[in-house]
Amino acid sequence: MNKLQKILVGIVAVCLLFFGFIVFRIAAAPKDDSVRLAKVPPEERLGTHAYRDAYPLQYNSYMKNNDLSPSPTGYGGAQAENSHLVEQPEMLENFKGYKFAIQYDDDRGHTYAGVDFKNSKRLPGQKGSCITCKGSYMYDVYFKESGWAYAAKPIDEIMAPIKDDEWIGCSSCHDPDTMALRVYQQSLVEALARKGIDIKEVSHNDMRGYVCGQCHSEYYFAKEDGRVVTPWDNGLTAEGQYQYYQSGKAGGFQYDWIHADSKAPMLKAQHPDYETWQDSVHADAGVTCVDCHMPYMRENGRKYTSHWMTSPLKTVEASCQKCHTESAETLTARVKTIHDNTFRIQRIAGQTVAKAHLTVRAAMEAGATDEQLAAAREQLREAQWYWDWVAAENGMGFHNPDKILRTLGLAVDKAHQAIETANAVVKGKLEIPAMGF
Ligand code: HEC
Ligand code: HEC
Ligand code: HEC
Ligand code: HEC
Repeated sequence: MNKLQKILVGIVAVCLLFFGFIVFRIAAAPKDDSVRLAKVPPEERLGTHAYRDAYPLQYNSYMKNNDLSPSPTGYGGAQAENSHLVEQPEMLENFKGYKFAIQYDDDRGHTYAGVDFKNSKRLPGQKGSCITCKGSYMYDVYFKESGWAYAAKPIDEIMAPIKDDEWIGCSSCHDPDTMALRVYQQSLVEALARKGIDIKEVSHNDMRGYVCGQCHSEYYFAKEDGRVVTPWDNGLTAEGQYQYYQSGKAGGFQYDWIHADSKAPMLKAQHPDYETWQDSVHADAGVTCVDCHMPYMRENGRKYTSHWMTSPLKTVEASCQKCHTESAETLTARVKTIHDNTFRIQRIAGQTVAKAHLTVRAAMEAGATDEQLAAAREQLREAQWYWDWVAAENGMGFHNPDKILRTLGLAVDKAHQAIETANAVVKGKLEIPAMGF
């Protein structure tokens, strides 16, 4: 062999080794995720820790949900001590007489769902319904056994057997028999069925919204049996959901509580994140919760889905810049501007609603009857619903800025109507009380 032949043989050998290694890697790696599932004992699949060795990349990134670092925008973030009641004291008036005036903290990572739930000051006296969006135990154990029966039982009895790592975890979004994405939450399955949609037939991309929407959406507990209901029948806007409650579709459920000052029958909105996002610019472009909150990552050449569901601005490159060409600073500043504008109007709306409660109370004290105040109370109930719909949503405007601002505009308008109506009842003689926010 001359020198040239030796070099050629060397190159061929290196190529063979390289491709051989690749072929070996592909053959050695399990073909799909369900194959690795065999390593997770079936009886441990409602827990999270049992998945550690079979799915280390997803498991380790899921454990990052323990991280408590603040968001770069200063909104949201993961500090449990971020109390909405301290940051927006008008909530103390608006939720007066209800458990949300006792404790109402900002949300944090999924790994805290169980402990935050158990420590919640709002928990005592509640029913089994409450565990529905705290993991799949409700479905894989209780629902499969006897349907919605668990929902009406005392919460202490229902949560007693649930182990620490069996709250939100892998089986909340994955079928523990196949690892396919799934929606376990029956209220969403039922709401979609009422619209003629079979959850088993929806597209893969739609599932990347529904797996989150099964918990991150508005709901109420049916008066009759405590089951959870997702009120999507009249559309996925704040107005459509209000119509749903007014239409009698909610059966015996008419209000969450009677307000302590205005005596208006109030509704509490619960995190309509899915509803807010689903007709946004991003949703129209097919961009789902998962694209931003669970971007693809790489580790040692392997691509995987990040399971650290937190502020996407902690991972702007992976979360936003795969589509957007602006710098990380520009994108973050844009989000913060949307948050600042939303928060400003949200507080104005909340304070106007609070003023309406105090005005109706003042009218009562001036001698107005329940009959005379019925119209003002209904306007107030509607006003608070719109404000709360936004206040309870987690994106502080970003998920759909124009929809959120429209909803806040309705809140301000309805609250002023309630003030005028109550004032007219007592012939405009009311001194509207000062609130000191
Ligand atoms: C809140 C929902 C959610 C939870 C909780 C969750 N996953 Fe996922 N997982 C997803 C989504 C969404 C995808 C992306 C699936 C897709 O589009 O195909 C995914 C993808 C995966 C994949 C496919 C490979 C990849 O990286 O894309 C594996 C494996 C996986 N998850 C394992 C786990 C394990 C193990 C746990 C528990 C430690 C877990 N997941 C918890 C939602 C979740
Ligand atoms: C089983 C119900 C459930 C599902 C499914 C679910 N979530 Fe959550 N999510 C929660 C609860 C409950 C909390 C609040 C936990 C706490 O504060 O202790 C939360 C909190 C969050 C937070 C706040 C984290 C922080 O750092 O403040 C984000 C972001 C989030 N979820 C995104 C998602 C995304 C994206 C999906 C879908 C891939 C999803 N969630 C699916 C119930 C769920
Ligand atoms: C286009 C990207 C994008 C999409 C799509 C998206 N989000 Fe978000 N989300 C964000 C951004 C940005 C924030 C604000 C983060 C910040 O201020 O740090 C946020 C905030 C949140 C928060 C509050 C996090 C916290 O720190 O308290 C939750 C919960 C959440 N989103 C859930 C969802 C759910 C559920 C969906 C789908 C129904 C969704 N998001 C769709 C980008 C997105
Ligand atoms: C998968 C692609 C994709 C991802 C990921 C994505 N975006 Fe977008 N974004 C779009 C598209 C498409 C539009 C619509 C643009 C248009 O029509 O010109 C858009 C629009 C926007 C707008 C204008 C919104 C409006 O209401 O007019 C902002 C702001 C924005 N994105 C910020 C972000 C941020 C911040 C992130 C990361 C948290 C992000 N985007 C992630 C594709 C994406």
